[in-house]
Amino acid sequence: MQMPHKIDNRKRAWWKESSVYQIYPASFKDSNGDGIGDLKGILSQLDYIQKLGVDIVWLNPIFKSPQIDMGYDISDYYSIHEPYGTIDDVDALIQGLHYRGMKLVLDLVVNHTSDQHPWFVNARSSPSSEYRDFYIWKKPRYDENGQRHPPNNWASYFGGSAWEYDEPSGEYYLHLFAKEQPDLNWENPRVREEVYKIIRFWLDRGADGYRMDVINFISKHPDFPDAPIKNAASKWQNASEYYSHGPRLHEYLHDIGMILKEYDAFSVGEMPEVKDTNEILKAVGFDREELNMIFHFELVDIDHGPGGKFTAGNWQLGDMKRIVSKWQTFMYENDGWNALYLENHDQPRSISRFASDLPEHRVLSAKMLATFLGFQSGTVFVYQGQELGMPNVPWDWTIEKYRDIETLNHWKEIPGTQTSLHEASLREYRLKGRDNARTPMQWDTSPNAGFSTSDPWIPVHEDFHTLNAAMQVKDPESAYHYWSRVLSLRKKFKDIIVYGSFALVSPEHPEVFAYVRRSEDGNALVVCNFSPRPVQWTVPEDVSDLLKEGRVVLSNYSPSCDGLRAGQSVTLRPLEAFFWL
Ligand code: GLC
Ligand code: CA
Repeated sequence: MQMPHKIDNRKRAWWKESSVYQIYPASFKDSNGDGIGDLKGILSQLDYIQKLGVDIVWLNPIFKSPQIDMGYDISDYYSIHEPYGTIDDVDALIQGLHYRGMKLVLDLVVNHTSDQHPWFVNARSSPSSEYRDFYIWKKPRYDENGQRHPPNNWASYFGGSAWEYDEPSGEYYLHLFAKEQPDLNWENPRVREEVYKIIRFWLDRGADGYRMDVINFISKHPDFPDAPIKNAASKWQNASEYYSHGPRLHEYLHDIGMILKEYDAFSVGEMPEVKDTNEILKAVGFDREELNMIFHFELVDIDHGPGGKFTAGNWQLGDMKRIVSKWQTFMYENDGWNALYLENHDQPRSISRFASDLPEHRVLSAKMLATFLGFQSGTVFVYQGQELGMPNVPWDWTIEKYRDIETLNHWKEIPGTQTSLHEASLREYRLKGRDNARTPMQWDTSPNAGFSTSDPWIPVHEDFHTLNAAMQVKDPESAYHYWSRVLSLRKKFKDIIVYGSFALVSPEHPEVFAYVRRSEDGNALVVCNFSPRPVQWTVPEDVSDLLKEGRVVLSNYSPSCDGLRAGQSVTLRPLEAFFWL
């Protein structure tokens, strides 16, 4: 048995011991009946959030924006998107959170701006604009027939080329996302100065940190080379090797880190496309002074197909074990830190994806996944509605119900009408589309789930009569209360759960995900049956020491699986999970 390290007291940190609740402002709570969630709505629910036991609230972008990509296209970093409220509402929110001992984390979207941002409007107006160099402009390429082409073959994440032609100047600008989201040119020191000013502005106003949108994309390969062909069916290729960990990334992150340090601010960077743990360690290593932690994508890309996100993929529990165990042990051994998440505004609902969302399984699944995630080492992120076990949108959703640019652009690119490819794609949207997580928060059984007094901007999930916050807050056996127990156990046994070591148990079992957490302070065992059917599990010898002492402290079944002994074969009930300590 591998002995855990002694905990180094210098490496304890408040942000390691914290849990985060993520709010999607448009879909959380509407205070004025326009069908769009807002800051006053959030302010009215702070007690609900506090009682869950989280320490931090992260808001998706609330800044002025044409909303081409739900606020990830910012046209003014210093003012608030009007339907969400005013800067006074932000002050009130900061106060309300601080009063309850919680912190506020904002979304920093600085890989790109909106094309309506004055910088871009100005940059586009003329090649000699003093803002031209805030963005990335390149000359066209011409083929032997004199046909004009983009400067390289890079694909945009929202379909088509990553370059948009600007007729008047005869140049293209880069946009890794929508054409309304031009990429900033971080090589320009004036851009960096502006970003650092924004960072300070909200921290000075009382915000406590940032979630940083696709922050690993800010440094691009200076030559913008063509990407190798990965998808022969397309003219445009994913070129992430040329911008997901560019040559100046860590220099920029260090600049940011130095500002954050002054404020003891929280930071989590979103880092798609990077699987190399060593690359990520450069960003989150304890003494690197860059970021506290990052979101990697290995787990949430697990069901993407060979032709991308919206093609059928399949995954096995063994894949999940390999990924989780890799990050858990790597960060522990190397003094980095993990951000733990199964859901966010870009991902489908976790019970639908990883467990079972049949009505009779929802609560069990939500609790099982809470057990699975909540006792790992890292900072836990809970996305609004995850604490209730909200599922994906219903299977009968037609394309008219979807709102997300990623889904709608994908749909538009499917050739023909009503083909089998359309049908297959609808199925993939139901499995992986981002709108799954964006339906309104389900507060109670009143019209529109108590989210709004008028029709919401995106349809409410019709299951709100049986699945809502009011019912769960009243019911001590609900997923909501289970989550709150998980979060309080994390605090109570933090030397084990936050700072302990991690090892898989029964690594070969195809349906049971089990692991031990060890520390000088004690040991814990987590067992999760991912199957909605009963399974046999033989308690392995390597946990015999631990079983002699503890007992089941939390389980989604009662009576729970108590009195286990090594060597014993037990039947775990459908989706059964327990935490033994
Ligand atoms: C991030 C955001 C996502 C957005 C994209 C472009 O991945 O989480 O919602 O569409 O960046 O800003
Ligand atoms: Ca509103």
